[in-house]
Amino acid sequence: MKVFTTKRTLVTYLSAFKSANKKIGFVATMGALHRGHLSLIKQSKQQTDLTVCSIFVNPTQFNDPADLEKYPRPIEQDKLLLESAACDMLFLPAVDEMYVQGESWHIDLGDLDRIWEGAHRPGHYQGVTQIVKKLFDIIKPDFAFFGQKDFQQCMVIQRMVDKLNMPILLKIGDTLREPDGLAMSSRNVRLSAQGHHHALILSKVLFMVQHEFEQGLAVGALKNKALEMLNHAEGVELEYFAICDTATLNEVKADQRPDGPLVAIVAAWVEGVRLIDNVLL
Ligand code: PAF
Repeated sequence: MKVFTTKRTLVTYLSAFKSANKKIGFVATMGALHRGHLSLIKQSKQQTDLTVCSIFVNPTQFNDPADLEKYPRPIEQDKLLLESAACDMLFLPAVDEMYVQGESWHIDLGDLDRIWEGAHRPGHYQGVTQIVKKLFDIIKPDFAFFGQKDFQQCMVIQRMVDKLNMPILLKIGDTLREPDGLAMSSRNVRLSAQGHHHALILSKVLFMVQHEFEQGLAVGALKNKALEMLNHAEGVELEYFAICDTATLNEVKADQRPDGPLVAIVAAWVEGVRLIDNVLL
């Protein structure tokens, strides 16, 4: 695997592949890689000629400095994992390679910037789109692979791609889970065994909702049941749970049963770690 730390060397190297009309796949990450990331690398390997992964803990998307500081950075282990997944290239820039001081950015993301993750993490999606735009501009991938676990992030990036007419096809990979159901996340390493156990309620509730929705239970009743379980769960501080339209992320009203696909989303804190998860209904 080739490792690049500067934009210039990466762009020079990629230009030969572009001239040869090779398809480039891109997996953007903040490191602390897990099987979810590796499955995106695998999909890219299957669908493109060259797979580039980036590892960059992006400061502009952290609205909490403590969260940025505590973000895991096991870079040597990440490199080994990428090698084992036969990733072709790793882009590993330092902060000053990606940002100049005092840079500002704003893209109109509409409601997506104001609801759910947008509301609870002000400025988060501005930071995400800012770095993803920069990475897309450098790598110019044909396909970019993101995980469904960050459902709203996938929508936000799709909106940016549409708004800016970027010739990039987004591919969304399924959420990978631990055998006990916990959605894989780089933040899970910060949970103790007990915290991990407490966090299981998130996926348990989502699977319950998925099952009962299929049985025909109304959205309002489902939400009440989910809230009851989440609010009484030990060691879990709920931020939100909602059942939403997948196209807009607007919450479905209690008595509605729309035809379109729905998504149940949840965010909660366990041992000071913020966890999110979702399932499609
Ligand atoms: O999902 C993530 O890990 C990050 O938000 C991303 C897309 C790599 C941007 O920093």
